[in-house]
Amino acid sequence: MEVFYPGYPVNATKKETYVCDYSELLSSQNISIVAAVGNRGEMGKQGRIPWHLPKDLHRFKALTIGHPIIMGRKTWESLPTKPLPERRNMVLTRQEHWAVVGAELFASPAEALAALPFHAEPFVIGGAAVFQEFLPLAKTIYLTRVLHDFEADTFFPAVKWEEWNLVEDEWVSKDEKNGYDCKFQKWEKKY
Ligand SMILES: NC(=O)c1ccc[n+]([C@@H]2O[C@H](COP(=O)([O-])OP(=O)(O)OC[C@H]3O[C@@H](n4cnc5c(N)ncnc54)[C@H](OP(=O)(O)O)[C@@H]3O)[C@@H](O)[C@H]2O)c1
Repeated sequence: MEVFYPGYPVNATKKETYVCDYSELLSSQNISIVAAVGNRGEMGKQGRIPWHLPKDLHRFKALTIGHPIIMGRKTWESLPTKPLPERRNMVLTRQEHWAVVGAELFASPAEALAALPFHAEPFVIGGAAVFQEFLPLAKTIYLTRVLHDFEADTFFPAVKWEEWNLVEDEWVSKDEKNGYDCKFQKWEKKY
């Protein structure tokens, strides 16, 4: 598949357009997923995340600051602060006339990825619909396992974990501000 890719090379004039090989662009990009899930893969309920864990928010910020973040329109709407600062906010929507301030809109994952430079390190931050679409492309999953059963209406998609290596698995104890024990995991794609 070839895509129109206006951002390369960097000194292109406005009218010049370049076509690059999409698979080459994709393989140069280090796409990460960052998510937090309950015991049963719970991710969200009624447009919100079912827990409040400052330690996990801190991890999320540390991972994503300075990187492009890609999200679905519903996750964008759920953000308490829009846009998330110091990150390029990229939102997927199929609605042609939807408009927002502070984010770039894209009609498909391919369009969003094509708008990134070679060797970009984007983070896909949800929700479930968008995780499902980016899972085959991701090289890394940063997963916070929140060790509790939650009521939920949105769940992380099924993952073939045999295709992934668990390379970090940090225990994080609950405390007065963080109501649940967690594990901060990092998974890398085997091949
Ligand atoms: N626990 C976590 O780590 C975590 C992370 C993020 C979000 N969440 C939670 O997850 C829930 C939201 O997740 P969700 O799965 O319902 O929604 P979502 O993935 O955030 O957004 C879905 C929307 O994204 C757009 N979209 C998806 N795929 C697209 C594609 N291929 N091309 C163009 N647009 C596309 C569509 O927008 P349009 O309808 O506008 O076309 C679609 O309705 C909320 O409860 C949120 O709090 C949890």
